[in-house]
Amino acid sequence: MSPAAKSTPATGPLLVVKDLVKAYPNGTRVLNGVSFEVHAGDVFTILGGSGCGKSTLLNILIGVDAPSEGSVHVLGENIHQLPRPKRATLMRDVGVLFQSGALLQSLTIAENVALPFQQHHPEIASDRELLEDTVMMKLRAVGLSRHADKYPRELSGGMKKRAALARALALDPKLLISDEPTSGLDPVSTKEIDDLTITLSRKSGATVIVVTHDLLSFQRIATRGIMLGAERDGAVRGTVLLSGTKQEFHASTHPLVRAFLQPAEDLAAAGTVA
Ligand SMILES: Nc1ncnc2c1ncn2[C@@H]1O[C@H](COP(=O)(O)OP(=O)(O)OP(=O)(O)O)[C@@H](O)[C@H]1O
Ligand SMILES: [Mg+2]
Repeated sequence: MSPAAKSTPATGPLLVVKDLVKAYPNGTRVLNGVSFEVHAGDVFTILGGSGCGKSTLLNILIGVDAPSEGSVHVLGENIHQLPRPKRATLMRDVGVLFQSGALLQSLTIAENVALPFQQHHPEIASDRELLEDTVMMKLRAVGLSRHADKYPRELSGGMKKRAALARALALDPKLLISDEPTSGLDPVSTKEIDDLTITLSRKSGATVIVVTHDLLSFQRIATRGIMLGAERDGAVRGTVLLSGTKQEFHASTHPLVRAFLQPAEDLAAAGTVA
């Protein structure tokens, strides 16, 4: 068992975010007292308009950026107070799919998916055949085994997202954190990514945190979530407008939540949404 796994509470939330504030040096207060918890089995969705601070929040959750105030406990550890090597060990249990996909352009899809093994599992990476078999298994799971030797520039947007998903899930993480995994995709590719995210995370036992402003994705995959106030929302910018189950979101009478959800609910009511 890894040190990170040992420190994971047997029960209790996988992620605890408390009173998070993020102010950039230019004075922009992007997050303003954000608190929430994510529990095992959740597909926890972070909703909010463009520029409301979703990526900022994710960067803080994975330790890439530091909060101005507040704390983040991932798998029972306060990640911003962990020494770097311990944080790296902990983050082996957290798969991340960045908003941009962040595939290395100079590497093939197979080489991109091999990276986490090279970083964290030298015993697998040093056995070429085992590494190749493992990577192919991961690519097969997202339907990309025939494209293993292609470079990211040779793939469509949807294929790139699937490759990034395969890399994020490569080490069977306990938490999958996914930043707009369907942005820029057509509705069919969006559904493919949603379905893969759910199927593969269920299979590997990963709890999912997904940032989206795709309301159809929210309806399809979310169990619980939060919605953040955007810049255009004035005083509530960077605060949690609503935290709850998907059903509580649909039942909410909060005017900003209504304005966000209504278009998708109208489409669903008209029977145009699968
Ligand atoms: N390094 C930075 N310095 C100053 N301001 C920043 C920095 N990074 C982000 N911001 C600002 O913080 C706000 C939130 O940005 P962020 O990227 O977190 O939003 P987002 O909700 O992910 O948006 P989108 O839906 O477009 O991806 C924006 O106003 C952005 O300009
Ligand atoms: Mg973003």
